[in-house]
Amino acid sequence: MRTKMVAGNWKMNKTLQEGVALATELKEKVANPRCEVVIATPFIHLATVAELLKDSPIRVAAENCADHESGAYTGEVSAAMVASTGATYCIIGHSERRQYYAENYDILRTKTDLCLKNNLRPIFCIGEVKEEREANRQNEVVKAQLEGSVFHLSEADFRRVVLAYEPVWAIGTGLTATPEQAQEMHAFIRSLVEAKYGKAVADDTTILYGGSCNAKNAAELFANPDVDGGLIGGASLKAEDFTTIINAR
Ligand code: 13P
Repeated sequence: MRTKMVAGNWKMNKTLQEGVALATELKEKVANPRCEVVIATPFIHLATVAELLKDSPIRVAAENCADHESGAYTGEVSAAMVASTGATYCIIGHSERRQYYAENYDILRTKTDLCLKNNLRPIFCIGEVKEEREANRQNEVVKAQLEGSVFHLSEADFRRVVLAYEPVWAIGTGLTATPEQAQEMHAFIRSLVEAKYGKAVADDTTILYGGSCNAKNAAELFANPDVDGGLIGGASLKAEDFTTIINAR
């Protein structure tokens, strides 16, 4: 049985105090979830939030990590440092990292490897931009992203990876993929995993949907057989909305 999951990605929002307040509210509201619940916070929040949530079912993730193990990389935060805070997941390959920080397949492969080496579960993001969808190239795009950065993994390592399909045209735009579009792509992604690692692994792979998923549309998206949960941006910044989404899973 694959893990069902709702993960929040705070992105570059919330001061430390605001983040602690949100995590405190979530801890109260999310005592007994039916799925795995993860919040990805900015680096500076991680240690405090992980400590605050240590007796709660909510897990903590970083939004990124460095592509080097340690050393003279001013301003960077390594996977080992992330793990030392108590975080257990790390988002890798978010489209905003690919687009604004030029993170290519090789960099993301290295980051994935470093997460796994440091016992962090990567939440690996894939998805096409609007022009690629309009040209009906979305399948080849996500295939190349998987082949470029995660399909080199051993079966045991790949089993630790959570995939998140986030069509870039749906992120922060209010243009959610339709449930049919989401299901079609998730089924395609699962077929790629099956071709690479076999049916048992594909059946166990958690594939999240992200992109304008909110309290109103989450249940409809999660009702699809290959949509195992969501990676939530804007709607994860309000405890009530995020809790509604968790309860829809
Ligand atoms: P929104 O939910 O704000 O569209 O963001 C999705 C996302 O990028 C999650 O990683």
